[in-house]
Amino acid sequence: MEKLTGFKKTKTAVFISGTGSNLKNLIRFSKTKKSPISINLIISNNSLAGGLKYADQFNIKKKLFSFQNYKNAEKNISMLLKKEKIKFVCLAGFMKILSKNFIKKYDGKIINIHPSLLPKYKGLNTHSRVIKNKDKFAGCTVHYVTENLDSGKIILKKKFKVTSKDSVASLTKKVLKLEHKLYPAAIMKIFY
Ligand code: GRF
Repeated sequence: MEKLTGFKKTKTAVFISGTGSNLKNLIRFSKTKKSPISINLIISNNSLAGGLKYADQFNIKKKLFSFQNYKNAEKNISMLLKKEKIKFVCLAGFMKILSKNFIKKYDGKIINIHPSLLPKYKGLNTHSRVIKNKDKFAGCTVHYVTENLDSGKIILKKKFKVTSKDSVASLTKKVLKLEHKLYPAAIMKIFY
């Protein structure tokens, strides 16, 4: 990512599929003076995504895309990103895997947050794998998106100690809380 030169915030789109707590957190962050990004577009594949409410709440443009036809969806998303002059994309609980072609177009400009200490536990059910394997640490990672799932260069990662009392539910809560610190920090790291 090009380092920040002026005062203009980089136009950013956030892709979501669910609750959108990271989206809400990123919107709050984007409104701070120090934020290098502004959030100008919210994209979802899921009409029931709770996070879509933040588009109305914060007056941000939102758009739904059905991924029944992946090619069409990505083509239309590309067109919209271009139209809206979006230069940076944050995936935040987006449950579709973007194609190699799409990612190539935005090479180095799409990042994701993942609820594990990558490269450990790519994919789903990260917390149950931590519990099952009796891991000493859990955490989350912000990384660049590449064609291989959850495998792009790591930007920031943060861990904490798992206790004997921890469950999937408690880890979900703890990791999400940490994610809300990590995502803005990773964005700051990229731009400054
Ligand atoms: C987060 O745990 C994120 O790491 C994962 O999906 C979850 C999304 O949560 N990819 P939210 O929708 O931001 O609340």
